[in-house]
Amino acid sequence: MAMFSLTRTTTPTSDAARLAALADPGFGRYYVDHMAIIDYQAGDGWQEPRIVPMSEWALHPAAAVLHYGQEIFEGLKAYRRDDDSVWLFRPERNAARFVQSAKRMGMAVLPEELFLASVNELVELERDWVPVGENEQSLYLRPFMIASEPYLGVREANTYRFAVIATPAGPYYSEPVKLWITPNYTRAAPGGTGTAKCGGNYAASLVATQEAAANGCGQVLWTDGAEHKWVEECGTMNIMFVTDDGQLLTPSLGSILAGVTRESILALAAEHGLEAVERPISVDEVLDGVESGRIPEVFACGTAAVVTPITGFNSPDRGVQTVADGTPGTKTREIRQHLVDIQFGRAEDKFGWTR
Ligand code: COI
Repeated sequence: MAMFSLTRTTTPTSDAARLAALADPGFGRYYVDHMAIIDYQAGDGWQEPRIVPMSEWALHPAAAVLHYGQEIFEGLKAYRRDDDSVWLFRPERNAARFVQSAKRMGMAVLPEELFLASVNELVELERDWVPVGENEQSLYLRPFMIASEPYLGVREANTYRFAVIATPAGPYYSEPVKLWITPNYTRAAPGGTGTAKCGGNYAASLVATQEAAANGCGQVLWTDGAEHKWVEECGTMNIMFVTDDGQLLTPSLGSILAGVTRESILALAAEHGLEAVERPISVDEVLDGVESGRIPEVFACGTAAVVTPITGFNSPDRGVQTVADGTPGTKTREIRQHLVDIQFGRAEDKFGWTR
């Protein structure tokens, strides 16, 4: 296990200020007092695992991340249970995906043990920042890595910084959303970076989300880059469809992000009387299914938002369509509750997901 040095902050948040923050955390509004950092230097490897006070850091203006976007991140949560113990949910899946993202972006690979140790060290130190789990609040952990080398040539960097910061979190998208099927933008293409959790994917999504808002929708339904025919993801999440004959349908992996929540929900489907099916799903199949009632429920899933009901779609071709009666469906609510109950230790953790 890596040995982390600890430098404590001399200006810790007061108990009163922390409790006020935890009472209404929002998302990304407050940060815990410390962060974990590990630097990488080609030839020397990963250096000096350390926990230090949360603060700005100096970066050379030529640092590669600022120019060519070599950056990856992860998102996972720490949950406080009724007995006051603090738990993580499948952190090893995030560690493994971080390796895959690093490889895709030509970055140094952080050993999974170091990723997990960084998260554990920070959560143990900042335990008081994990909210009481009423209203499903949690401490959102954001591990990330940037190319820190000052160099303007286009090649992979020789130095990287990995860090973990943390922010208390309430529900992320608290409201059910309607999706805009954009004819103009694409999130990912075959051979592109869709499976990597890299900042650039999210930067490229913002203008499409503006377009969604202009069309009365909260998020974008992403379709394939070649034909805009196949469903991929929605907003920053994976998407799932419940069919009237008991299937839980979701697009196959390929150019989409392999979500930990996606994978977990597929594993739970059978307990909710649903057969999990991963296959290509066309936009027409979805809109026809919503129209005919074959698809009575649609939801999005991700770590931040857990499960967000999708209440309808809007597209240039077919206009506004509402899913069933426009309220969250039964399976959607059941599955969300089941997952949250496992995370908070209120339901049996059959798969051994919690740590
Ligand atoms: C998640 O749903 O966990 C995400 O990836 C959203 C995050 C970018 C805020």
